[in-house]
Amino acid sequence: MAEAELIDGKAFAAGLRSKVADETAKLKAGHGITPTLAVVLVGSDPASQVYVKSKSKLAKKAGLNAIDKPMAETASEADVLAVVEELNNDPNVHGILVQLPVPKQINSNKILRTISPDKDVDGFHPVNVGLLTSGQMDQAFVPCTPLGCLLMLQDRLGDMSGARAVIIGRSNLVGRPLAALLLGENCTVTLTHSRTKNIAEECRRADILIAAVGVPEMVRGSWIKPGAVVIDVGINRVPGEGKGESEGAKPRLVGDVAFDEARLVASAITPVPGGVGPMTIACLLANTVRAACQLNGIAPPDWS
Ligand code: GUN
Repeated sequence: MAEAELIDGKAFAAGLRSKVADETAKLKAGHGITPTLAVVLVGSDPASQVYVKSKSKLAKKAGLNAIDKPMAETASEADVLAVVEELNNDPNVHGILVQLPVPKQINSNKILRTISPDKDVDGFHPVNVGLLTSGQMDQAFVPCTPLGCLLMLQDRLGDMSGARAVIIGRSNLVGRPLAALLLGENCTVTLTHSRTKNIAEECRRADILIAAVGVPEMVRGSWIKPGAVVIDVGINRVPGEGKGESEGAKPRLVGDVAFDEARLVASAITPVPGGVGPMTIACLLANTVRAACQLNGIAPPDWS
């Protein structure tokens, strides 16, 4: 079999960001509205700082406003709730995102429940989760990483009716919402997790295999059905080849899928980096433009 085609998330995300920029320009010119995203970062986790910076940078590049709300590592739950309430009540803010994880003195579910569902561009509020899982996804803000996966799959496969989709990882961020989205596409969905018996066997049945588990290169080539489409959501830093990081070897990013093996079996696969990752922020910007439209009684854009 020929090597799998690469699904170029970087290019796909650039295309979506360009549509977001066009819609933003229309909102500004036609309605005097600049879609505005507020990002709350509590503490100074280095990975979160990198994500938040790139969210703001790409938002501004697409013509949106981005408001950063940095808060101290020692901020109390009440402090964060107060900031969220202030953003809920600010008519110039359309999207609110509290970067996860938050420090341990703060109950993340309580924070997520406080964000107005109409500004919940992460799609983590129980109202949006409920709309998605009850099949009303057109009414919901859908979490950005699963939405990015769905858009790439729709582009690649078109009609997915009857396809067997196997997801590894049952997180609220990716696995669970993605299961609901693929059910909406009429896939037969299997959601596997750490207690699943013989996970490799489950995976071998998949026409669409999605790994979102955070274990470097867990999915081996032998787990993949020939011709399957593989979406690798994992972003894992591992020491560079040869020497350890302490001896100066540059760490590399790998996915949850052993890429070199998988590429020989799958029909298409997302690389890491450059696959799902860039789609997450592009979808966040798309959700923010949608929020700005809905909050102002304007029909939201169709991104397809
Ligand atoms: N941390 C890792 N991914 C995400 C995400 O999509 N949204 C938020 N708020 N935090 C995250």
